[in-house]
Amino acid sequence: MLLIVSGGIAAYKSLELIRLLTARGCAVSCVLTEGGAQFVTPLSLQALSGETVHTTLWSLTDESEMGHIALSRSADLVVVCPASADLLARMAAGLASDLATTLLLATDTPVLVAPAMNVRMWLHAATAANLATLQARGIAVVGPDEGVMACNEFGPGRLAEPPAILAAILAAIERMLAPVAGTLDGMRALVTAGPTHEPIDPVRYLANRSSGRQGYAIAAALAARGARVTLVSGPVALPAPDGVARVEVETGRQMLAACEAALPADVAVLAAAVADWRPASAAAGKLKKRLGAEPPALELVLNPDVLATLSASGERRPRLVVGFAAETDALLEHAAAKRVAKGCDWIVANDVGGDVMGGSHNQVHLLTAAGTEAWPRLDKRAVADRLAVRIAAELARPSA
Ligand code: CTP
Repeated sequence: MLLIVSGGIAAYKSLELIRLLTARGCAVSCVLTEGGAQFVTPLSLQALSGETVHTTLWSLTDESEMGHIALSRSADLVVVCPASADLLARMAAGLASDLATTLLLATDTPVLVAPAMNVRMWLHAATAANLATLQARGIAVVGPDEGVMACNEFGPGRLAEPPAILAAILAAIERMLAPVAGTLDGMRALVTAGPTHEPIDPVRYLANRSSGRQGYAIAAALAARGARVTLVSGPVALPAPDGVARVEVETGRQMLAACEAALPADVAVLAAAVADWRPASAAAGKLKKRLGAEPPALELVLNPDVLATLSASGERRPRLVVGFAAETDALLEHAAAKRVAKGCDWIVANDVGGDVMGGSHNQVHLLTAAGTEAWPRLDKRAVADRLAVRIAAELARPSA
């Protein structure tokens, strides 16, 4: 959620809204206007949201971390709370005179406004016309309520209560998800997940820390939207998601063969952490350790690259091929290079330096031909849902 807090005595209620949102697991980034900063401090917004608060269009630090255009598109929903008469007017006029209005002009994300102002200002024909313009553009409105105002006048203009704003946010999200739910009906999806085990001998193998959770969540999210999903899984400790056909494999070579057998597919999402190398040969019997003797040398050979192979599979290539990039440094550069080198359409880039591998959360960037999107830190299921929504929208477009 991108929360824009503009000026008005009701700005303090935005703090309660952040609390309600974060309690539901929602990641909230805040933008505070100059007027808003007269009523609440960046520090209180930051303390409650746990994220950097953006206040100016001209911040080099903010621009180097995430440009304001990217910021405007990084959220699922933009919420303006409170929305002052002045901000509504500038939105209606399409001004980009500060960070908040620039983001609102640049965003392609749904917007919800919660107006709050003096009753005369609310009832003024100019405000009514601005609101009608915004509503005609699809902007959702919650409130204002009627009651005694801070200025002791009575009438409409009070900010809606935070629980009512939360309900409007949830309703807006429902509306966003509803049109795409089921749009993968009749589509075939191939998903890979988990690590591979590359045998050294009958009891030892090379592997990695992948838990398979992200890939399993993606398979489940695609199936929930109506796709027929084949999940090619390396060894993991997870049950097969409902409605998904799972093919269990151990090695990278088996994973490639199982993927090729699962084609044709409309979309392939390759989230598995396939071992890049395998022992040149697996010993038939257990390698014996002899006390005092040199350890055996492990000769490695290159494993097939499933993503690159499927991306180059000609007529059998899925319309949309999505790869992952697990990086510990230079995340975006390496991920962008991988997208080109492996010939896939999208790359989901994640920094695996922290607790991502094996953990329950993930913070990813989505790299497409159109550019790079920074997604907030989310539960792996929420990353999967968001990706499934994007895949459904992409497959709904007529093919080039
Ligand atoms: N991948 C694959 N087959 C391999 C190796 C990787 O299909 N043999 C896929 C992964 O499923 C993922 C993408 O390629 O979608 C990138 O994987 P990653 O481990 O980040 O990259 P590598 O190609 O292994 O490169 P490096 O280890 O140098 O980062």
